[in-house]
Amino acid sequence: MRAVDIIAKKRDGHELTRDEIGFIIRGYNSGEVADYQMAALLMAIYLRGMTIEETLALTEAMLHSGEILDLSDLARPRVDKHSTGGVGDKTSLVIAPVVAAAGVLVPMISGRALAHSGGTLDKLESIPGFRTDLSLAEFRATLEEVGAALIGQTAEIAPADKKLYALRDVTATVACRPLMAASIMSKKIAEGASGLVLDVKTGSGAFLKKEEDACELAQIMMSIARGMNRECIVLITDMNQPLGRAVGNSIELIEAFETLKGRGPDDFNTLCRELSAEMLILGGAAADAKKGRELYDELIKSGAGVEKMRAIIRAQGGDSRVIDDYGLLPRAAQHQEVVASQTGYVQAIDTEAIGRASMLLGAGRARLETAIDLGVGLTVHAKIGDKVERDSPLVTIHFNDSARAEEAAADIRAAYSIGLEHTAPPQLIKAVIR
Ligand code: URA
Repeated sequence: MRAVDIIAKKRDGHELTRDEIGFIIRGYNSGEVADYQMAALLMAIYLRGMTIEETLALTEAMLHSGEILDLSDLARPRVDKHSTGGVGDKTSLVIAPVVAAAGVLVPMISGRALAHSGGTLDKLESIPGFRTDLSLAEFRATLEEVGAALIGQTAEIAPADKKLYALRDVTATVACRPLMAASIMSKKIAEGASGLVLDVKTGSGAFLKKEEDACELAQIMMSIARGMNRECIVLITDMNQPLGRAVGNSIELIEAFETLKGRGPDDFNTLCRELSAEMLILGGAAADAKKGRELYDELIKSGAGVEKMRAIIRAQGGDSRVIDDYGLLPRAAQHQEVVASQTGYVQAIDTEAIGRASMLLGAGRARLETAIDLGVGLTVHAKIGDKVERDSPLVTIHFNDSARAEEAAADIRAAYSIGLEHTAPPQLIKAVIR
């Protein structure tokens, strides 16, 4: 078998066999298939799509590129959640400690910034000393000791996804249902979770802009979960505006800490509550969504969630004083406001453009090897439905490079549609698929 023939077959719109998919993933993982060949295949898949059988084969090949953790001896339910990616989406940083505080184990394998969307790992790495590269033995020990552990794909767990994820980020091949489904499900199944809550985002800041595409991705992932004997609940949620107010890395971490302290923005706190409630059900800690929501509120109010976050940070080598002293986190040197050009109501926000503006400041990567600036980002003041006055602030830009800030400001200004008619804010939870 040759990689070039497999690329040509997909380029010409044919279905790949399980063997061909296994061959190319093994070859890419071992370095025999080059980045440029895989980039070509990814683009062919992006343009031609994959059948459900091909997607299942791809998921399995990626899953078997590394170890599959067996955590069944821990004798407690193990539940994780994964989001398809958005702007200001920092729910993992709240959910993991809260759900762990309820006694459910949360083994979480997260991603880095991808295209215009942020990544949990980059946000966590704003914490001095925090290690997202725990070995599997350390991951398991942390899980046993504190109830939650958050790491990235390692050389051991779904390593093919680690390489593919980074390559997709810089080859414009992220927004592709089979690639997303295989990426998410391979690492989630490898990490040993017994139950999974998936947050599939749709809207201007999501990879899948149309709700029907999000629903289709949800169905593909449900089929994979079913085929692999995992309990799975999918929420289809809105991404037509940034979630919460913070977009960036350390700035999002601070918003997550504030939410754990009971002072988070409403939309963000609501989504964290809904996702946690579903995880608490799968983890056997709540009988239904109402009970799950009540438990979430209690764990926030009592401080159990924030204390669990402190324990997770300590266990992963981080400086847990950051929870009380945000001055210990990376911060941008300069700030600038982007103001409204007219009085009216915010009618729409091109949220992908907001995400791209944050990336432009340095919060994400333009190339595989780019280092990111953990302190830069945006504070979003005006959301859909808000009344704004001419010259009132829409967004504050936190930056270290003035030329980039100018470019980002122009993009943000263009991303806002302001008109005289009031528009209702979008519905946050669009569907729950059990
Ligand atoms: N999150 C992932 O882990 N993979 C994707 O492809 C998209 C979002």
